[in-house]
Amino acid sequence: MPSTGEDRGGPAGLAVRRLEPAEWETLRDLRLQALADTPAAFASTLERELGFDEATWRSRFETSVQLVALDDGVPVGMVSVFRAPEGEPHLVAMWVAPAARRRGAGALLVRAAASEAAALGAGGLRLYVADHNLGAEALYRREGFEPTGASQALPGRPELGEHEMRLALPVPGTGAERV
Ligand SMILES: CC(C)(COP(=O)(O)OP(=O)(O)OC[C@H]1O[C@@H](n2cnc3c(N)ncnc32)[C@H](O)[C@@H]1OP(=O)(O)O)[C@@H](O)C(=O)NCCC(=O)NCCS
Repeated sequence: MPSTGEDRGGPAGLAVRRLEPAEWETLRDLRLQALADTPAAFASTLERELGFDEATWRSRFETSVQLVALDDGVPVGMVSVFRAPEGEPHLVAMWVAPAARRRGAGALLVRAAASEAAALGAGGLRLYVADHNLGAEALYRREGFEPTGASQALPGRPELGEHEMRLALPVPGTGAERV
């Protein structure tokens, strides 16, 4: 199981680690940047989350593992692994700052999320991606996600569709994948 605070290194200068609840302001700052930068990628809105108080940001650590991508120690991206009350965990809130894109931070975040999901004992990691978000879909496919066939309107944005993808995680000790 990944240890808290452990850096998972990647391309030069890039690393991913868990955020702790005491770092809720880092989570808030990244999330608000994400909502301002790419509103059509997310179900929530900047207006809504600008109103969150400290307790609300801290509560996000109770329901999800929060991961941050660092470029020479500076936060440049995030992803959350939501522990669904039933079923498999979900990768949500994926975002990399525009200036840091196409250098591997997104792939590092996806791999760290998969590692966290495996550590939870899950057989798979699921996500929803907007139908128009071809860049994110390409990233997820490259990392091994496949469409499940499920689709829906993006919550809060009925004009946009999104579809589900799933990554099968290895069964511990066998090298095989659960299906
Ligand atoms: C999607 C996103 C997280 C990718 O982050 P990133 O750090 O640029 O991703 P990586 O550098 O690890 O990309 C890995 C691979 O994914 C694919 N990929 C990533 N972005 C892509 C794009 N815009 N177009 C096509 N392929 C893309 C490529 O295969 C890429 O490899 P390459 O650069 O060698 O061609 C980033 O563009 C982002 O934050 N977008 C806005 C928010 C968003 O859409 N979030 C997803 C919500 S589901």
